[in-house]
Amino acid sequence: MESFFKLAQVRRSTRKYKPDVIPVDIITKLQQVLLMSPASKRSNPWEFIFVDDKEILTLLADCKPHGASFVKDAPLAVVIIADPAKSDVWVEDTSIASIYVQLAAEDMGLGSCWVQVHKRMHASGEMSSEYIKKILGIPQHFEVESIISIGYKNETRSEFDLEQLQYSKIHTNTYSPKS
Ligand SMILES: Cc1cc2nc3c(=O)[nH]c(=O)nc-3n(C[C@H](O)[C@H](O)[C@H](O)COP(=O)(O)O)c2cc1C
Repeated sequence: MESFFKLAQVRRSTRKYKPDVIPVDIITKLQQVLLMSPASKRSNPWEFIFVDDKEILTLLADCKPHGASFVKDAPLAVVIIADPAKSDVWVEDTSIASIYVQLAAEDMGLGSCWVQVHKRMHASGEMSSEYIKKILGIPQHFEVESIISIGYKNETRSEFDLEQLQYSKIHTNTYSPKS
């Protein structure tokens, strides 16, 4: 990827994946990027579960009624969890890790999508995080922020059109309401 700017412009959520397995050296790089994510006070409250088992991926895809079904067809999902006792800003820390791994995946020729877990519910009414903790054997004191599905793209998304960006959301010095 020629630059971070271009990476930001071409990254779009990818929900359709080829079945191709992701090579081990790329998985290792994704893991290293995650471990280099910024975290408040370097408290590193996060941990990361790499899932490539089809049966487990299928169970994860059922973590909420909408917006997760494509996880079952991804060759890889990274479940991003944190111990809230280690940081009062674990949501921020895990969110940064989530987007870091998405950008790293894009940079390595892969597509990805964020699946929101924190504050979401399973169809049964239990919290999605509790459902996932049971499936993956995650200790009770952890929280689950997200699942990031990753794989080689099987869909084409257009890059951002710089002319169409919401420039009205940018303010200089003071907040200036735009009509
Ligand atoms: C915090 C957050 C939560 C998201 N949760 C989901 C989700 O649960 N399911 C899903 O399909 N996409 C999810 N997305 C992806 C967004 O829907 C997507 O980023 C948005 O539609 C813009 O599309 P783009 O990423 O292609 O620019 C999430 C994105 C963010 C940042």
